[in-house]
Amino acid sequence: MKHPVTHPPYDDIVVLKFGGTSVSSLKCWQVIADQLIRVQESGRLPVVVCSALGGVSDALWELADTHEPRRLRELLKHIRSKHLEFVSSLSLDPSILTATLSRLESLANERKSLHKRASPSLKACLLAQGEYLLTTIGYEFLKHSQPTISLVDAKLWMKTSTPLPDTTSYADEQYFLAATCDYQPAPQLRSACLDGRHHAYITQGFVGSDKRGTTVLFGRGGSDTSAACLAAGFRASSLEIWTDVPGIFTANPKEIPDSRLLQRLSYEEVQELASSGAKVLHPRCIEPVASYGIPLSIRWTEQPDLTISTQIGPFKQSEFRIKAITSKTGIYVFSMESIQMWQQTGFLAQVFALFKQFHLSCDTVSTSETNITVTVNSETQTLNEEILTPLRKQLGRICRLTIYEDCVTISLVGQGIRSILHRLAPMMKVFEDRRVFAVSQAANNLNLSFTVSRSDSSATVKELHDCLFSEATDPHLHTFGATWKQITHPPGSSTAPAKNDLFWWKNYVSQLQKIARSTESSLPAYVYHLPTIETQCRKLLDIKAIHQIHYAIKANHHPAIIQLLESLGIGFDCVSYGEIDHLKQHLRDFHPKKILFTPNFAPVSEYEQAFKDQILVTVDNLDLIRNHPKVFAHQKLILRMDLGTRQGHHEYVRTAGEQSKFGIPVDFWQDARDLIKRHNIHLVGLHAHQGSGIGTPDTWKKVATALIELAETAGGNDAGICMIDVGGGFGVADKCDESSVFCPEELATSLAEVKRSYPGYQILIEPGRFLVAEAGIILTEVHQTKTKNHRHYIGVDAGMHTLIRPALYGAYHHICHLNPKTSGDKIIADIVGPICESGDVLGRERIISPTSPKDLLVVCGAGAYGRVMSSNYNLRGFPAEHVLS
Ligand code: LLP
Repeated sequence: MKHPVTHPPYDDIVVLKFGGTSVSSLKCWQVIADQLIRVQESGRLPVVVCSALGGVSDALWELADTHEPRRLRELLKHIRSKHLEFVSSLSLDPSILTATLSRLESLANERKSLHKRASPSLKACLLAQGEYLLTTIGYEFLKHSQPTISLVDAKLWMKTSTPLPDTTSYADEQYFLAATCDYQPAPQLRSACLDGRHHAYITQGFVGSDKRGTTVLFGRGGSDTSAACLAAGFRASSLEIWTDVPGIFTANPKEIPDSRLLQRLSYEEVQELASSGAKVLHPRCIEPVASYGIPLSIRWTEQPDLTISTQIGPFKQSEFRIKAITSKTGIYVFSMESIQMWQQTGFLAQVFALFKQFHLSCDTVSTSETNITVTVNSETQTLNEEILTPLRKQLGRICRLTIYEDCVTISLVGQGIRSILHRLAPMMKVFEDRRVFAVSQAANNLNLSFTVSRSDSSATVKELHDCLFSEATDPHLHTFGATWKQITHPPGSSTAPAKNDLFWWKNYVSQLQKIARSTESSLPAYVYHLPTIETQCRKLLDIKAIHQIHYAIKANHHPAIIQLLESLGIGFDCVSYGEIDHLKQHLRDFHPKKILFTPNFAPVSEYEQAFKDQILVTVDNLDLIRNHPKVFAHQKLILRMDLGTRQGHHEYVRTAGEQSKFGIPVDFWQDARDLIKRHNIHLVGLHAHQGSGIGTPDTWKKVATALIELAETAGGNDAGICMIDVGGGFGVADKCDESSVFCPEELATSLAEVKRSYPGYQILIEPGRFLVAEAGIILTEVHQTKTKNHRHYIGVDAGMHTLIRPALYGAYHHICHLNPKTSGDKIIADIVGPICESGDVLGRERIISPTSPKDLLVVCGAGAYGRVMSSNYNLRGFPAEHVLS
């Protein structure tokens, strides 16, 4: 703890609010004490607004609501002992709480004497005791370092502006428990505080009073509101909200660890974020500070010295873009259909009058000529069967009503959202296979919302976040800061071994430098690490339920790699005769049994050749057999089915479903069987491949089960069908600190279940990417750097001709220096190649140490679909390849 200083007179005021988790330990109060000194040292007077101990408000709510005397006693005891324990953990005298605890007790007794529910006024008094108890403790603690600190009863400072209620109990509740706080400037109060008598103040959040001096509360989360109103009343120089995160993030950081800290936000944006579900600030606390342009910052109590935080102020936008994704749970969607509303007046009024009658406020509204869809939040207001049944009945009289419960509204928030719709097009694909119940674009141009079912919501938010923010920064580094993961686990802080191995090359830096600088080798160059490939192979070889692995050689056909796989007993999945010939040339012991031939729209001659070479062929087109019966009659075959479901990291690699050229639709299964019978074909297996880059391990179990069920309808094992080829597609991690998106252990468990149910079938897989992706890097040299319109570019010799995946699929490959720079601020730059196309970008808006020509960079995770998809475009030549073993 720092030592106090004496600094009066102060010429300005800073309001600091500390909420539940920021006031619950000795350490928190030491932080508070230090912050008072920091503010004083800046020549300003600190005013602390403090809420109740975590969990106490909930206990008080229950106490106010309970009918049972025993429960009431229990709760009282719990609250009392919680505070006394806290007092002793701060080494304070327990007698400091005597007065407040006895006040609580007498209020509780008053409540006990009532048989019905406590009045809202009594409830307000009871609930306020949490704040009174904690400020009493805080005051006594702070007095040690701040002898002149003053504890002010918030009822003196915080006045409600809500007019006295009418007689209905609903309005009563609003008045006493969710009152509106007055935030008119109070110059006399300000000068009184600055008169030099007290060097710091502490008061309760959440609590206030009306003109008569009766206690009122400012609603849940009301401490933020109190602090903001006080800051406005004082015309404070700033408001600091101290909490359990360093600021507002692009998504909920606890759910999306890759979400980025938003460093600067306008009042309007924060208002929208808070109202649409961001939990850090209460929606009602923005307006008071915004009205007087008071800067608001969010600070992290756990790390008070962290220099980064969210700053909120009257910031102008240099560029419009989405700032964050928020979500609100507990949403009900009311879809109301009626032809009567067409060109009629008053229909909307009728509908909304009913919502008003049931005290329901609607979040979003969209209308068409014959439908009104509104969403209603059940977590901020009462929406139970007691309300739903009559509402349903009454709405049912004027329209055809469908209610979808348990939905989530996901909002994209950012200023000027209507002017950037075109940029949002790519992310709309996340809704491809999901039902959207309502879409709404807020009139304030700040919010675009989608209401989906709860079961879809987490994955939707994650995918939207990946699309919008995985590389999100802005050229001036003003808005988007570090990710939650970077803040909580800075590089080098983790002792746990990395789950993926994108960084194997860090053990080979000097060898890689030698490769790069050797006169014989040219850059850019691919480098493959055989031990990493072997590790990946073993993960799949260890899965007992898998009968045979066939490596999809299309991913990478480097001779050293295929020889390694051959030595491990892995077979090969080929899609062209070129690939088969390549194996004939490079395998140490070529044998047709090691090969599966799975071509698509290949020349018939290739099938003929395969039959001649006794290679097992997969056919995915019945016309092929119909048109060339002689080629296929009496042959052994696998049929590739299209199960109608598809997955994969990008549209182009989802290889099933209506729009895909692959496979035989399940609807044609009977035709297939007829054709097989007619031509005496030996159907030995069924195959399906959903797509590439899939993270959900149960995919292959589902594929296997669907194929086996199909096989069973044709006699299954008895008819000679024994191979079930569930394809490839096993995903890998793209990001450096991401644990692998696909978990082989889970695959093992789920395939074992299939094997238990159907022991007669052999399960085959065809992985490509999983075995080789992480094992490959591109070594590339910086040739030029450039800064244009505040945007930095790092020009390297690798480009879209070396690695097409970023340009073709928007794929992410981590890029960094081969030799990490130890000092210097990072910059944000696009890493671009030398090809004459704007799409020649290997990585957009990457945070990287500044580079100079001749620096060597590494492009990670490039072992699959890298060199094999490279080209000689612009006649820049093919990249070299090297192998480390
Ligand atoms: N089996 C079949 C029938 C396939 O079509 C593929 C890949 C695989 C197996 C191997 O899939 P893997 O385990 O590698 O995901 N160029 C794209 C990937 C295209 C995949 C094509 N088919 C990329 O760079 O992401």
